[in-house]
Amino acid sequence: MPDWLITGCSQLLTLRGAVPRRGRALGELGIIRDGALLIHDDRIVAIGPRRRIESSRKSRRAEKLDLAGRVVLPGFVDSHTHLIFPMSRAPEYEQRISGATYEEIAEKGGGIHSSVHNLRRASAKELKLRAMAALQQFAAYGTTTIEAKSGYGLDWKSESKILNILYELHQEQPIDIAATFLGAHTVPVEYKGRADTYVSLLTTKWIPNVAMAGLAEFCDVFCDRGSFTVSQARKILMAGRACGLVPRLHAEQLAHTGAARLAIEMQAASADHLEKIDEADIRALALSNVVCTLLPGCCFHLGLAHYAPARKLIEAGAIVGLATDFNPGTSPTVSMPMILSLACTQMRMTPAEAISAATINPAYSLRQQDRIGSLEVGKYADFAAFDVADYREIPYYFGVNLCNLTMKRGTVIYSNN
Ligand code: NIG
Ligand code: FE
Repeated sequence: MPDWLITGCSQLLTLRGAVPRRGRALGELGIIRDGALLIHDDRIVAIGPRRRIESSRKSRRAEKLDLAGRVVLPGFVDSHTHLIFPMSRAPEYEQRISGATYEEIAEKGGGIHSSVHNLRRASAKELKLRAMAALQQFAAYGTTTIEAKSGYGLDWKSESKILNILYELHQEQPIDIAATFLGAHTVPVEYKGRADTYVSLLTTKWIPNVAMAGLAEFCDVFCDRGSFTVSQARKILMAGRACGLVPRLHAEQLAHTGAARLAIEMQAASADHLEKIDEADIRALALSNVVCTLLPGCCFHLGLAHYAPARKLIEAGAIVGLATDFNPGTSPTVSMPMILSLACTQMRMTPAEAISAATINPAYSLRQQDRIGSLEVGKYADFAAFDVADYREIPYYFGVNLCNLTMKRGTVIYSNN
């Protein structure tokens, strides 16, 4: 691989500095004006003002890439996706627009159950092709690393089918995928009324099997009204942790259940959603190392007015992150720029806070902060260049894709030229 000298970055957002970012530090982007990067193999070997980087001996021999005044930032780290699903749920979208709620649809066998029904019948090949196309879209919007959950299989054969596809995709295409086992997405229909039996199956069989086979790094539970209780979620996450799977949690989305407190108790890497948290939860989360991963795409797509209290979390000192929650039921988007737009206008995060919450903090939640999430010497050359002159224009121009180029580990994986 040639060395690359990247110049023409009108604003180079390095995100260097404290990890994770809390409070005021969330808004610090470490911007270099007229910046440049020197890349050797998959890593950044020099970064700084163009004049200094250009004049080094190594730079003279490198291939040159002039980004012509674009804004450059670390590739987005999307720390909550449900990448593998069989098809859209557009009919439910229409039902909700006409007044049905997400929970009513789920109770009638739609929702997650409908995706499970169809996934069990889908071949690994078709699921993989669909995911491949989505991954190309992720790259086109500037994302270079994702987390991806199982959870639309809910029997051993189908859950392991999903995790094996994630493993293959991680090997075969450029976007890094951190896999999460979400066997506890909902109680499958065949265990209706026997949730505890299903929980035992998860804790005694599937979780050890997943961990033994190295098929996931994380274990997640949808701990909410209509899915798993706090005490069931605790059993599942403890079983995961005993086998080395780091806990994450879907928490406080539909009802206030105590799931955020469980995330703290379990020292989870992340507590996600958090629309229904209260003041005491905010204070407790702020004192913890749990990343509060907010998913405004869900509220937007479900047409709900109440978003998670991002400002209060930031002001209390919590570690705030943002993710797409790419899934067919509540947030069918791969676009982190759209998530930034929603974070800014609907949750009053500043553009700078939203960018930190979409890069360095989710890198921390994936335990990859030493490799990704900021542009610093020694880290992967993972970045996105946007066709704007000021980073605030990334959320400002909503609903259009201004990503011009995405590089992953020193290789261009998307270019709009
Ligand atoms: O994160 N809340 C649980 N899981 C997804 C929705 C899954 C679905 O509806 O298919 C979420 O919002
Ligand atoms: Fe989710």
